[in-house]
Amino acid sequence: MAPMTINVNEANLVFHLQTDHTSYIFRIMENGEAGQIYYGQKIHVQPNYKNLTSREWRDDNPSLSEEDPNFQPPAIKSEYASLGKGDFRYPAFQVTQENGSRITELTYDHYQLLNGKSRLADLPSTFDDANDDAQTLVLSFKDQITGLTLELNYSIFPHQDVIVKSAKFTNPSSEKLVLNRALSSQLDLPDSNYDLIQFSGTWARERHLYRNQLRPGIQSISSLRTSSSHQQNPFMMLARPQTTDEQGDVFGFNLVYSGNFLDSVEVDQYDTSRILTGINPDEFGWNLAPQTSFQTPEAILSYTTEGMNQLSQQMADFYSQHLVNPRFTHEDRPILINNWEATYFDFNEAKLMTIVNQAHQLGIEMFVLDDGWFGHRDDDTTSLGDWFVDKKKFPNGIEHFSQQVHDLGMKFGLWFEPEMISIDSDLYQKHPEWMIHDPKSTPTPGRHQFVLDMTRPEVIDYLYDLMSHMIESANLDYIKWDMNRHITEMFSSELTSDQQLEMPHRYILGVYQLYDRLTKAYPNVLFESCASGGGRFDLGLMYYAPQAWTSDDTDAAERMLIQFGTSYGYPQSMMGTHVSAVPNDQMGRITSLKTRGAVAFFGDFGYELDITKMAPEELDQIKDQVAFYKQYRHLFQFGKFYRIDSPFVGSGNVISWQVVSDDRKQAIAARYQLLNHPNAPYTRFYFKGLDPNQQYQINDDAETYYGDELMNAGYFVPTILADGKESKDFYSQLFVAKAV
Ligand code: DGJ
Repeated sequence: MAPMTINVNEANLVFHLQTDHTSYIFRIMENGEAGQIYYGQKIHVQPNYKNLTSREWRDDNPSLSEEDPNFQPPAIKSEYASLGKGDFRYPAFQVTQENGSRITELTYDHYQLLNGKSRLADLPSTFDDANDDAQTLVLSFKDQITGLTLELNYSIFPHQDVIVKSAKFTNPSSEKLVLNRALSSQLDLPDSNYDLIQFSGTWARERHLYRNQLRPGIQSISSLRTSSSHQQNPFMMLARPQTTDEQGDVFGFNLVYSGNFLDSVEVDQYDTSRILTGINPDEFGWNLAPQTSFQTPEAILSYTTEGMNQLSQQMADFYSQHLVNPRFTHEDRPILINNWEATYFDFNEAKLMTIVNQAHQLGIEMFVLDDGWFGHRDDDTTSLGDWFVDKKKFPNGIEHFSQQVHDLGMKFGLWFEPEMISIDSDLYQKHPEWMIHDPKSTPTPGRHQFVLDMTRPEVIDYLYDLMSHMIESANLDYIKWDMNRHITEMFSSELTSDQQLEMPHRYILGVYQLYDRLTKAYPNVLFESCASGGGRFDLGLMYYAPQAWTSDDTDAAERMLIQFGTSYGYPQSMMGTHVSAVPNDQMGRITSLKTRGAVAFFGDFGYELDITKMAPEELDQIKDQVAFYKQYRHLFQFGKFYRIDSPFVGSGNVISWQVVSDDRKQAIAARYQLLNHPNAPYTRFYFKGLDPNQQYQINDDAETYYGDELMNAGYFVPTILADGKESKDFYSQLFVAKAV
């Protein structure tokens, strides 16, 4: 059992949560609510924190009482605030009573300390299955008006400096209550001298970094698409203005959730910052019927004084130990070939077998059959929902095709888009009512398709049966679970009128339920999530599907930016990264096979092009890439990741990053250049994270260098190429450092 890292001062009701390097402190205040005291670098445990809780009167209203004029709700730092008792900032929760009142008076009742961290019942969550790492504090409050109870859950994971927070509401009364908002975490920081760093974009341009100074008022990142979305990612950071990847204070916030979310920062009149994280209160309303509970998703908070690389690394370590399915935590992911960009819908078994055979000769380990194998889907207008093999394309069934792949010693994976329905489908003929729509309104198509009502248990059963049939009959090793449109006409005739605002969350619970059933029944099937590329790149799905298709943009130069941005919040093992054809289908850009490989190596590597049309020299190059990746696969997928030159800072023309093994005996750095410029300056590459006292060889050259030299003095990078032929636009160099 881990030493106690949650300190409770019973007399003063002060709670001090310590991780290896951080302290999170709060207390029960005069009004019975929890008040935030401190979150940051570790400090000593004290009986109280007078210095941190001192107040002085401001010319502002109201106060707790005439006797206590310094307790002014608009000025206090709170742990989980309501609206209506004098704190006018946006609240963490709001409950409506039967009479319409939204006033609550939640006061502290008791606390409980638990070893470990158990999983949540219906939501993806963090865990400490061995019960030997985490500790959990449950703080209970009772509403003096309605009897409603609130549990604030705090789990600390000391070694990764992570705190996981969530809230649970229970209605023990006979009154019908409605939750209008129920965020997962609130954090009130004492000042606003931070930059908000967010990861935003759109389809094919996901998770670019945006950094802006906080300003008074609300600033937020959110989604109302019933998906975490390409547009905004739930991961964000607050960093001091001088913080870089290398050094400085930074907080990270993320949410274990895949639906509508809100991350907001409110800078108030006294320059404090309130950070709220959770389900978006817009398009949300939950009936808390008598004797029922509502559990929020979990929010992840992490902090370091050592810069954003350190923050990313500690969160990556945390996800691998406490979020991702342990079955896949350390298992090397197979090198795959996917037929999507090779064939789109135009394929049959014979054509695919030529790709499979070629792939096998090149050492590729898995074939993934993408969209178009079912119904009569020769384009994207039809057949979603009919998860039956198209006998025209596979006269002998998928079983036979899969058998041939397996006979070569390769794995076999299959694409599904379970949540969707085409009007042109047998499923629609049978169950038009399963499609999400509002009978009074014209359904809005997206990519010619509509969405199934995942709040209906019979829909989940239908999908479970068909998918499990395919898993068993085709002996699937892998599933790519796609989702290619956002939801409109959010309405379900199955739900009562006052339940309609529950639907966005219920939809996501339905998705989780299907994932849960499938991953439990077929624990060895590796799932990769996808939503038109990176539209659901979130921790909720990572719990079930340990990797995700990073973006539909497979152009190497665009991928440098997308993967760089994604790396702030998610490790390489979560990113699907493939080499595709040139000119690139999304960008029309030509980059060398070498550069396409050098970018895709830093993730779950694969190919997505027609290798039967490639020249022999290119096939030789692919063979070498596959062999190289196999040699360093674990390092590429699970090594410690360092960002070095950012595309989001300065001209962004040079981009570099690096992976290092845990024992620091191996490292691979990549340096990419977007456009070439004449007479380049003399250039050095500064390695990160090496052992200063260890000697290394670079790319097997005879010379050796100490780690301290490579990190502090740099490694000379030649910019004049020997053969003079290779284009230096989109040029890449890899430096493999090996301890000698
Ligand atoms: C979108 C995905 O991101 C692609 O990789 C591919 O699977 C298509 N959907 C298939 O329709």
